[in-house]
Amino acid sequence: MKRRVSAEVIINREIAPAIYDMWIQPVQKLPEINPGQFIGVFLKDKSLLLPRPLSICEVNADRTALRIVYRIAGAGTHEMSLRRPNDGLGYVTVLGPLGNGFPLEKGEGKRTLLIGGGIGIPPLLELAKRLKAEKQIVVGYQNCNTAGFLQRDLAQYGTVHVATEDGSVGTKGNVLDAVRQKRIEADLIYACGPMPMLRAVKAYAQEKGIPAYISLEERMACGVGACLGCVVKTNQVHHHTNVNNARICTDGPVFEADEVDI
Ligand SMILES: Cc1cc2nc3c(=O)[nH]c(=O)nc-3n(C[C@H](O)[C@H](O)[C@H](O)COP(=O)(O)OP(=O)(O)OC[C@H]3O[C@@H](n4cnc5c(N)ncnc54)[C@H](O)[C@@H]3O)c2cc1C
Ligand code: FES
Repeated sequence: MKRRVSAEVIINREIAPAIYDMWIQPVQKLPEINPGQFIGVFLKDKSLLLPRPLSICEVNADRTALRIVYRIAGAGTHEMSLRRPNDGLGYVTVLGPLGNGFPLEKGEGKRTLLIGGGIGIPPLLELAKRLKAEKQIVVGYQNCNTAGFLQRDLAQYGTVHVATEDGSVGTKGNVLDAVRQKRIEADLIYACGPMPMLRAVKAYAQEKGIPAYISLEERMACGVGACLGCVVKTNQVHHHTNVNNARICTDGPVFEADEVDI
């Protein structure tokens, strides 16, 4: 897949309330993809001009298809949920792969902890698949209605622990309550999820004195570095702009937690 291409929808099914699992087959073979990269999905409704950023959840072995798992958040993802294979609406236009992705080499051979919250869980699957390391995977869901999506997929590549806010499955509480309850020790963390979770992961990594690589899935506009709609403050002076700001869409979405002011 090179930049903007058309892709056939092969599968698009609801796997939990309002959460969809979609496989698409771009007309061109996919380039090498780093876990944690994302694509922008264009919509047919012309009032929804901007591509919707969605993390690459998985890529098939011969790199001819990729998977995204998304929650219906608004009009764009609702439109996506209506796409059916082989019905004339079964094509999407996508842009990507975009962003940097998780640094696999930092965790190789180490005790790694992969933490995902809610709709931040999808990019952990390709990461878990590709990472050659000991993997403890902690995933957090709101309740038993959503608990479980991608859990079995992840269990092929590491030990999975679940936390739910209402305690209906696994540890009652958040992902870090599960980490503490299970006494999980790690040399390095990879995480993706809502901002409050990422702030807590950053504080936890600092407390333990270990590095953490976090994916910031904040709101985006252009998705390709042109609009500055996604900047985050960093402690590094940006090589190109000479200021302490980075664009999440092109410099990220993955950053070392200590580098960003979140
Ligand atoms: C790098 C990146 C990767 C992402 N990966 C995934 C993924 O794998 N699966 C998934 O379900 N979602 C993911 N998201 C979020 C997804 O992009 C938004 O949910 C989607 O763009 C919403 O589009 P919409 O037209 O349906 O809703 P809109 O009408 O655009 O928005 C509906 C509501 O959702 C809120 N919203 C929109 N975008 C975000 C966001 N990024 N974070 C928090 N709230 C938001 C809006 O404020 C609004 O309240 C990702 C976002 C980024 C930046
Ligand atoms: S979304 Fe436009 S610069 Fe990042």
